[in-house]
Amino acid sequence: MKRYQLKIDGQSTDPSSASWFETQNPFTGKTWAEIPKGNAQDVDRAVQAAHRSLTDGPWSEMTASQRGMLLHRLGDLIARDARKLAETEVRDNGKLYAEILGQLNYIPQWYYYFGGLADKIQGTVLPLDKKGYFCFTRNEPIGVVAAITPWNSPLMLAAWKIAPALAAGCTVVIKPSEFTSASTLEFAELFEEAGFPPGVFNVVTGFGQDVGASLVEHPLVRKISFTGSDTTGRIINEQAARHLKHTAMELGGKSPNIIFADADLEQAVFGAVSGIFAATGQTCIAGSRLLVQDSIYDAVVEKLLVIARTAKMGDPMDTGTQVGPVTTQPQYQKVLDYIDIARQDGATLLLGGRAANAAECGKGLFVEPTIFGDVNNGMRIAQEEVFGPVLSIIRFKDEAEALVIANDVRFGLAAAVWTSDIARAFRMTEKLQAGTVWVNTYRAVSFMAPFGGYKDSGLGRENGIDAIREFMQVKSTWINIGAATGNPFVMR
Ligand code: NAI
Ligand code: MG
Repeated sequence: MKRYQLKIDGQSTDPSSASWFETQNPFTGKTWAEIPKGNAQDVDRAVQAAHRSLTDGPWSEMTASQRGMLLHRLGDLIARDARKLAETEVRDNGKLYAEILGQLNYIPQWYYYFGGLADKIQGTVLPLDKKGYFCFTRNEPIGVVAAITPWNSPLMLAAWKIAPALAAGCTVVIKPSEFTSASTLEFAELFEEAGFPPGVFNVVTGFGQDVGASLVEHPLVRKISFTGSDTTGRIINEQAARHLKHTAMELGGKSPNIIFADADLEQAVFGAVSGIFAATGQTCIAGSRLLVQDSIYDAVVEKLLVIARTAKMGDPMDTGTQVGPVTTQPQYQKVLDYIDIARQDGATLLLGGRAANAAECGKGLFVEPTIFGDVNNGMRIAQEEVFGPVLSIIRFKDEAEALVIANDVRFGLAAAVWTSDIARAFRMTEKLQAGTVWVNTYRAVSFMAPFGGYKDSGLGRENGIDAIREFMQVKSTWINIGAATGNPFVMR
């Protein structure tokens, strides 16, 4: 069995605990590797290394252009190793190979984009209102960044943090999810080959309560960039607040996918499927509430059932598979529990609703694609994030009602509108409370488009030009070029 090591200060190293925990393949149910069980001591070693390279040594002396070059090389190496990294992820996470390879082929773009951006961040000379001073701003790295990532798309969500953080000149310690740590540890091997000095990028694996919490508490960590559940996000944000640290929080969602009667129904139904059954529903932007206008309700349900009923479950490595296993045992249980809750609350089960145990599912953690109809937006199944292949369909009569239902939830990560009426599309995009709004499409993301949550879905934005500034702090610099000394007891 493969046994991994931590990556600290450029070295592959055993955890101080000298203990490892097992990680499973959710399709076969078998343990396939051992992950180092990091602790506070390992976190301290990693943060000290990150802090040393931030303040001293080659990284701290590099120009922004040189940092950009390294990020480009890293992107090339990810592209070279995309297949290998994708295979590791399928083994550990159960994600479809087709989907994860697509992600791996796309991830280099984050390193190219932010690598290119590194030397385009300029300060400003200020037209000061006081005579005798030259005043300008400088953008400096915010410090050591702790990145904490979830299990659903480990390397992509890590890229959203690492690429802008390194472009800004920060150094990073990352703690991947305990369920899917292997890909991040393999990815860490590429940094030395790309030419990064030791200590710029460190990986400490382990559990949230030890490694995660120690990172958040460590005095030399200045920013915590977190993606995960809103429950954990709140805990981290509270701890971070006590130490006055910066945070970025990418949390969950309960996103409305809204189909109007004037929409292209074929396309809209495809969008509904990609919103909830792609990635087995384990995405923060899942379109888990399908809002359908009264007059087309039956037609949409019928089309949706045809596709969902025949969605092929099975081996995630198989290119014909459309729905893979749920990634973790607790998540599998949570999905099944929510199906029971929806039933008890009176939602009408239209499809699925059980663990799937067809022969092609093997010993995997499969849940049948599940659809509930005539859901009331007040039900728990419409208000709480399931993070699995479970769709709630809700009826509405007109635009005004669609908006009320869409926004009547504590989350605000994404929303989509399907319509052929351009004016309606604009009205809806303006009023929907979500960080990302799609019209006649679903689940599109890019390194160029800011991504993040309204309301309980998070704080801060990832991706897009401004993301690099989330890892920088501004210094105003004043130079006296002839201002009078004046009265020292009065403010200048
Ligand atoms: P989680 O919140 O349980 O764990 C996320 C990470 O936080 C893991 O690495 C975990 O070990 C760590 N952690 C747990 N407790 C901690 C603590 N006390 N201190 C520091 N770190 C701690 O989330 P999970 O279950 O791994 O991921 C699924 C969740 O992530 C879903 O709710 C989903 O909506 C959300 N998510 C959000 C995305 C977004 O961009 N908004 C994208 C992907 C997932
Ligand atoms: Mg695993």
